Amino acid sequence: MATILIAEDRKGMRDMVAKVLTDKGHHVIEAKDGRQALEILEKSSIDLVITDLRMPEIDGMELLKRAKEINPGASVIMVTAYGTIDIAVEAMKRGAVDFMAKPFPISEMEIKVEKALAQQKLAKEKEYLEEELNIEYNFGDMIGPSSKMQEVYKLIRKVAKTDTSVMIRGESGTGKEMAARAIYYNSLRKDNAFIKVSCAVLSEGVLESELFGHEKGAFTSAIEKRTGRFELADKGTLFLDEIGDMGLNTQVKLLRVLQEREFERVGGNETIKVDVRIIAATHKNLEEEIRQGRFREDLYYRLNVVPVFIPPLRERKEDIPYLAKHFLVKYASKTNKKIKELSSNTLEFLMNYNWSGNVRELENAIERAVVLETGDILSSQHLPLGMGTIQETKNIPLTGQNLTRTLEEVERQLIKKALADTDWNQSRAAEALGVNRSSLYYKMLKYDLVKKGLT
Ligand SMILES: Nc1ncnc2c1ncn2[C@@H]1O[C@H](COP(=O)(O)OP(=O)(O)OP(=O)(O)O)[C@@H](O)[C@H]1O
Ligand SMILES: [Mg+2]
Repeated sequence: MATILIAEDRKGMRDMVAKVLTDKGHHVIEAKDGRQALEILEKSSIDLVITDLRMPEIDGMELLKRAKEINPGASVIMVTAYGTIDIAVEAMKRGAVDFMAKPFPISEMEIKVEKALAQQKLAKEKEYLEEELNIEYNFGDMIGPSSKMQEVYKLIRKVAKTDTSVMIRGESGTGKEMAARAIYYNSLRKDNAFIKVSCAVLSEGVLESELFGHEKGAFTSAIEKRTGRFELADKGTLFLDEIGDMGLNTQVKLLRVLQEREFERVGGNETIKVDVRIIAATHKNLEEEIRQGRFREDLYYRLNVVPVFIPPLRERKEDIPYLAKHFLVKYASKTNKKIKELSSNTLEFLMNYNWSGNVRELENAIERAVVLETGDILSSQHLPLGMGTIQETKNIPLTGQNLTRTLEEVERQLIKKALADTDWNQSRAAEALGVNRSSLYYKMLKYDLVKKGLT
């Protein structure tokens, strides 16, 4: 059912059209001239306007123009007198979806109305789909438009709505915890608890009572009963971070909870039933851990129902500018600074760096640079030294190299970078390099870097 506005000054005609469309199940509003039609357009949400061309004061063409301004989503069908085909074409050029020449058979009008409404529906669906696609560009708080991350977002979105266990893998700092939270926020359990447990704790005993709780007196230091994370997460989501670090005894107990959905507190007899969704994460190579006998294969299969892999940052460098900008804005506002962009030099260093610490390392580098920056563009001088230079040594072939000469070349490059980044201010360059000014000057002489511009 659509809401249709009929603008027509001849009552007989208007009533006839209104009756046909009302019978079809549409909500029809009638306007006796252009002015009244405009008032209705301002006030109501109209899907389709059928307007006569010739009306006093505000004619159909003017109404078309104003309707597009007031409600761009509304479709307009222009009704013209027989023989005014040129005007009808003009109306289409100005945004009408169709026209009818009077007199028209009822069936023609019915078809044109349904066609206009169907097209409108399609256009709205397309718009909606495009919006959806835009969401995939970033996902919740996760930034990064690379195709690799879009795959991750898609998988997260799909798996979020289910209750299956998810295993998130990826190097340190890639965003595994963020992904776990994104799954939770998009799940049906989002209104219940999200409880995180880091399995990389000091001892197995501590982790066990953390997970399952303990009864008073279960062990010497158990002076009070403690509710475990499994109980706290009931009806919600439990995030087992660093699962690869979990000891074998705890693995056995965890396996039982996953199989039977029940457990006992440490030192207790009461069996507690829980309904918990598990998301686990690790940066470890679990298959290798299994081979080494440090991780149970059966637990692995229970947890690894849906594996989500977050690729390292160096394999999705397209994300770097977006992430860098995001962190720049975040830390500039945190530190009340007016830094708005990254210098092209900075971006170049960021793009060339290897990021073994992934997004976390990038975030830390930007935070540090923002804190130390005094200008309003983020320069590269406060980036950790070595970015963009030492990396290049990886590409130096090992044979035919002389260690001293190679080191000297690296040293020369670092000094050059420090000087360029500080606009050849020797005190600041020395400070950045962690050497005193006279030793910097000595090295500048040695490497023939005294005069600005020398390479
Ligand atoms: N796609 C991303 N968009 C924005 N911020 C991100 C993204 N990925 C990671 N981060 C940020 O990087 C930091 C590290 O992310 P997170 O803690 O999720 O990584 P992790 O894989 O769990 O790391 P670890 O293995 O060291 O525990 C966090 O501060 C997080 O906010
Ligand atoms: Mg983590």
